[in-house]
Amino acid sequence: MIKKTKVYAHRGFSSQFPENTMRAFEEARQRNVSGIELDVQLTKDGEVVVIHDEEINRTTNGIGYVQDFFLKQIILFDAGTWFHKAFHQEAIPTLRDVFEWIVSTKSQLTLNIELKNDVIAYEALEEKVLELIEEYELVNQVIISSFNYKSLVKVRSIHPHISLGFLFEGIDNKAVEKALTIQASGLHCEPQYAFSAEGKRAQASGLELRVYTVNDKHLFLQLINEGVEVIMTDDLEMSSRI
Ligand code: G3P
Ligand code: MG
Repeated sequence: MIKKTKVYAHRGFSSQFPENTMRAFEEARQRNVSGIELDVQLTKDGEVVVIHDEEINRTTNGIGYVQDFFLKQIILFDAGTWFHKAFHQEAIPTLRDVFEWIVSTKSQLTLNIELKNDVIAYEALEEKVLELIEEYELVNQVIISSFNYKSLVKVRSIHPHISLGFLFEGIDNKAVEKALTIQASGLHCEPQYAFSAEGKRAQASGLELRVYTVNDKHLFLQLINEGVEVIMTDDLEMSSRI
């Protein structure tokens, strides 16, 4: 029997709206996705903000590193015009903004919070994200993932049961053992892993496969056939037609 595969909006509905903005998240919510994946980094004053790159150059009208701006500075940049001028009012959201929105809309969707600490080792990013999750009582609605395995080990040492996803590229023969060691609920993997013997071993071990980032319809259908738990996509129009 083929189980029902869930769709997560990767960086929000990012094929049609500027990635990692409140607009992209709200547009995803209105399309009834099961979850949203977003990326977090830290400002100079230690605030958790939602942006994919370590630098603001690609997705805003500013130049520089996230870690070199105070929150009051970084929220002033335009995070929408790079995508289309219609989105000029979009800003870099804080993780708190996203949690306020989840609570105010009474949304049940899962938030996959990817800690972007594989390039810059942000001081206490794990603690700050966990504190916000506790404050908004969203422990049962989030999955924490990272390419930085040590960071996930740290999250587990702080929190005994929050859902974790070990994130990696390609085929990692140690991924199953690493995930089981930290009682992760799943592996965040590329499609090739899901089709591999290692991917089958992961599923047999009880780990969910959450596959990124799939924008091709045929690949999407193949992954559903493999029984993966989650597919992350930028293209919610494509996935809604399946
Ligand atoms: O979390 C899955 C995926 O988002 C990882 O890659 O670069 O899109 O953050 P990236
Ligand atoms: Mg990501």
